[in-house]
Amino acid sequence: MVFPRRAWEQEISRIAQITMADFRIQFLPDDRAAVVEEGTNLLTAARAADVYVGAICGGEGICGKCRVIVREGEVEGESTEFLTRDEIRRGYVLACQVVPKSDLVVEVPPESRLGGYQEIGRDSERFRDFAHRGVERPQTEIDPLVEKYPLALPEPTLEDAAGDQERVLAAVAKKRPGALQMGLKITRELPRLLRMRREGRSSWSWVWDGRITATVGSRGDVDEILLAEKGDTSDRNFGVALDVGTTTVVGHLVDLTTGITREAAAKYNSQLKFGADVINRINHARQPGGAEELHRSIIEDVETLIDELTRRAKVGRGDISCVVAAGNTTMLHFLLGLEADLIRLAPFVPAATKLPPFRAAELGVRIHPRGLLYTLPMVGSYVGGDIMAGILASGIYRSDKLSLLLDIGTNGEVVLGNKEFLVACSASAGPAFEGGSISCGMRATSGAIDTVRIFRHELTVSATTIDGAPPVGMCGTGLIDALAQMFLAGVVDRSGCFQIDRAPDRFRTNGEDGRPQFLLVSAKESGSDRDVMISQADVENLIRTKGAIYAAADSLVQSVGISFDEIQRVYIAGGFGNRLDISSCIAVGLLPDVPTERVRFIGNASVAGTKMVMRSRRRFEQVREICDQITYQELIVDPSYMEKFTSACFLPHTDLQRFPTVAEKLEAHAGGKR
Ligand code: FES
Repeated sequence: MVFPRRAWEQEISRIAQITMADFRIQFLPDDRAAVVEEGTNLLTAARAADVYVGAICGGEGICGKCRVIVREGEVEGESTEFLTRDEIRRGYVLACQVVPKSDLVVEVPPESRLGGYQEIGRDSERFRDFAHRGVERPQTEIDPLVEKYPLALPEPTLEDAAGDQERVLAAVAKKRPGALQMGLKITRELPRLLRMRREGRSSWSWVWDGRITATVGSRGDVDEILLAEKGDTSDRNFGVALDVGTTTVVGHLVDLTTGITREAAAKYNSQLKFGADVINRINHARQPGGAEELHRSIIEDVETLIDELTRRAKVGRGDISCVVAAGNTTMLHFLLGLEADLIRLAPFVPAATKLPPFRAAELGVRIHPRGLLYTLPMVGSYVGGDIMAGILASGIYRSDKLSLLLDIGTNGEVVLGNKEFLVACSASAGPAFEGGSISCGMRATSGAIDTVRIFRHELTVSATTIDGAPPVGMCGTGLIDALAQMFLAGVVDRSGCFQIDRAPDRFRTNGEDGRPQFLLVSAKESGSDRDVMISQADVENLIRTKGAIYAAADSLVQSVGISFDEIQRVYIAGGFGNRLDISSCIAVGLLPDVPTERVRFIGNASVAGTKMVMRSRRRFEQVREICDQITYQELIVDPSYMEKFTSACFLPHTDLQRFPTVAEKLEAHAGGKR
């Protein structure tokens, strides 16, 4: 039979549909399912079922984080590299490396779960950390980016017959001087808002009221009347401050009348499905439809957070007049749907760094239909709005004290300076401190080990976990602690090599790569059925990560001709949580060896700075001015950076004289106090 071309294509597609099987994949413990075509890997199936599985490498098969257990059914594919023989026997596979051969029941074990929505209860330590402690100082004067003005306008007379629009603009200008505009929609509504209709027997007439509330938003050089409402609604004006992190998206609901934070919530960045770091995600954006997927994914996260914040605060979405977002440059590009590809290519040019506010509705963020979305300015491709917020929140831009600000995340950003100058750089630290690229690493969620103590004499280990849950892995604070404790106990040497003789009973030699692993918690005591270990490769990875951050700071310090001793204040920002042990950070050489009282952990400085901007137009101007004054130092053009990095890839550093307190501890241990 001869088919015409179109019919022939239809026939091929029909045959393909007959021969291509669909499989139902059920994911436990969420009990969610997706029906996928034959050949679809389990990671994609999990995304389709809205189940989050760790995918640090974005499905390349090189991170080993997408472990799942096939409970029923058959799969095809190779995933032996990251799994022990015993695990394979028990049904473990890497989700990105296998495809179904039948319907399946698949369990996502705790260490692979990303979780979905993460609440920050009002009474929790994290909420206090976000909302009240540290950097968020009370702001007595509130002049928010979007403000409501209740007006009582005098009735027009023959002597004063100015138009309604001019009357409103003049009244607002008295309270908020400067250029002001009003769109056609509001101008059309004004006559009815300012008057009431009085019904007569055969007709009706206008009766002057004159009481309205004007909502005015800053749009750069000009202010705009965004909304006019009857009566006094000035007590219903809210804003959402967002920190769009590579791993976590945090939202705070702020009452713009009082400046008080009403609610806080956080959720994992759904873009994690596409890879852990910005480069993986930019690579995903290069795929057909990838950029749109990334944009939609972050907008959905913002929407989920706003849903939760408004539900808990019993506030209508229409009462939210603005959203202000900070984030690294790539995240803000994805949020706004800007081209991000050039960020990863020399000379690393972002699409834009200082953007005017947009209508939130234009981006699919449902607040008041005319509400605005602002973004903090970015210095360059790798120093984004989050670090600008951190500079504002830490106050280093107006301090006499020479200060160092380290924002430790997947992308480590470092700022050095005071009120006279600011220099900034960014180091690709990697996701190790967020649990990525570490065999038993996980983010700071329930069951993550967050503190570790190793008793030097008997070499026993004690650990605490988040929520006190049975341990299933280690988060950043736990990893830093573990490394410091292993080093000080002599379990690893200064180059990071395991000293097996020191504790032969605590070492296993059946690591994924055949190299030894140090046992922290045995499978019997853990919350999963596997040991919580730190491998030789993990130690090397952690050392590289801390080395990158220290070397970046070292490079900045040297560029201005000073030494770490001269730094009067060190601010650490990031999502570490309150259990971050400063002395452990110094012991491993993540922080310079300055007196611990000079070090301040300021938590999520990004969201704190964003709220400062939202509450104050002056601050918004100020942050843009500060952005212009920052000198950005590109580390790849610093010829000494590699040498600094190599020297920092030791515990704590090749030059022990830089770390006198650590040298003292080591000497004390060597002197028999071990
Ligand atoms: S190995 Fe599967 S996502 Fe990395």
